[in-house]
Amino acid sequence: FYFKKVKEMKNRLIIISNRLPLTIEQNGDEYKLKPSSGGLVSAISSYLQKQGKGSVSEDIWVGYPGCDERLWNNAERPEGSNTDHNFLPVFIDDDTYQHYYDGFSNSLIWPLFHYFPSFAQYDDADFEAYMSANKIFADTLAQHIRHDDMVWIHDYHLMPLAGMLRKRFPWLTIGFFLHIPFPSYELFRVIPKKWQHEILKGIAGANLIGFHTIDYASHFLTSIERVLKVQRDGQHFVWDDRRIKVDAFPISIDFDKFYQAADSPDVAAFRETYTTLKDGKQLIFSVDRLDYTKGLENRLKGYHQFLSDNPDYIGKVVFILVIVPSRDAIDKYAEQKKMIDEYIGNLNSSMGSITWQPVIYHYNSLSFDELIALYTSCDLALITPLRDGMNLVAKEFVASRKDQRGVLILSEMAGAARELTDALQINPNDTAEIATMIKQALEMPEAEQAKRISAMQNCIKHYNVDTWASDFFDNLTATVSHQLNTQPA
Ligand code: F6P
Repeated sequence: FYFKKVKEMKNRLIIISNRLPLTIEQNGDEYKLKPSSGGLVSAISSYLQKQGKGSVSEDIWVGYPGCDERLWNNAERPEGSNTDHNFLPVFIDDDTYQHYYDGFSNSLIWPLFHYFPSFAQYDDADFEAYMSANKIFADTLAQHIRHDDMVWIHDYHLMPLAGMLRKRFPWLTIGFFLHIPFPSYELFRVIPKKWQHEILKGIAGANLIGFHTIDYASHFLTSIERVLKVQRDGQHFVWDDRRIKVDAFPISIDFDKFYQAADSPDVAAFRETYTTLKDGKQLIFSVDRLDYTKGLENRLKGYHQFLSDNPDYIGKVVFILVIVPSRDAIDKYAEQKKMIDEYIGNLNSSMGSITWQPVIYHYNSLSFDELIALYTSCDLALITPLRDGMNLVAKEFVASRKDQRGVLILSEMAGAARELTDALQINPNDTAEIATMIKQALEMPEAEQAKRISAMQNCIKHYNVDTWASDFFDNLTATVSHQLNTQPA
């Protein structure tokens, strides 16, 4: 059903990510596959819907389905338009997956690449599982791939994969995109040398390597020079007789979808509920996956300090903090959850009253309509990651403000800060600055809000998700054509 028999056509697009854009829901003995969303899924789906179907014959999404083969074959499928993609599941046994995903990917690469070296765990079994899981991806793909396919590999779980595929398919067109920061060489070099080599040689199997910002691209090129001992030539380097391009492609969102969403009746209904809840108070809003990189503690401290410094605001402002559960099998995530629960409990009990709570805390995901209603009801979006590859929440908030109202406070450590220069930018370690900026944001004149929102909207409208994907594909095609044209006969 899912891996449809593929017609003999050129230029199929194979998208590979750790997860398939599906989740499995269990109801008693019944299992249901439901389409899931996320930055990457909406980016690719939107691109394919708008233009990709014309330029590629077929797309196949390859990834771990979150279950074993038996369950996959028996689970109920989504209906209608959700079958647009062809899905190729990669089955990985539980033990390997745990060491590959919770272990190497999220207990070493994730903390280290986000500048948390003290959180990084070095475990040989995790590394072996990481390589094995990538090999399972390569073996599964090898049964289906054709030499004229265009392959786009995503993210830090799959860094060795391009190199593995390159050995079997020397002429395959391969793009690789990293969705998290690539750290400075001084951090990258703390990884054991053998692992450094496998990661970099793996990524260098691609023809085009993309990052969110030019800084991440430049850090990567420095690591390539130092570890693989190759000379870079501007944004290029040669590896294995291939000239590889490295560049910045800042991921974006479907601007129109967010801009128009505020008008929908379902969103308006939620907004009415939140307006009643506001009851004349100013509303601060933030939404994040639970993660120690998101700067949640400093955000709460900054808000706490703002209330202490400005007692006039007590009872006149409320902070809706939404945290989406994530990676809860990992200790550092469980610790983060405990810290947030305790901080909010203390803040609400020490500064709140019977009639007012400073923080409304929601530990769950939100529907799209609820999210847009909160984006468009709030006076301030407070986004303070200690490190973030991009941060699409910042772009979504800005795009959804068709009313040209609201203020964005954004950490300068988020990739998005490079583009959203009209946000009030803060250093997330400076809680006093967060407190000062909250006051400034809540008192910002409407004309200035409009000026800033409009400037940021222009930027996102111009470089939206379609531009991002087309830019990457155009560069990939050009890099491969250049390679073919300059290859000795
Ligand atoms: O930001 C990197 C990323 O892998 C995203 O692509 C993804 O949406 C997010 O982290 C969540 O990751 P996970 O698959 O671990 O829930």
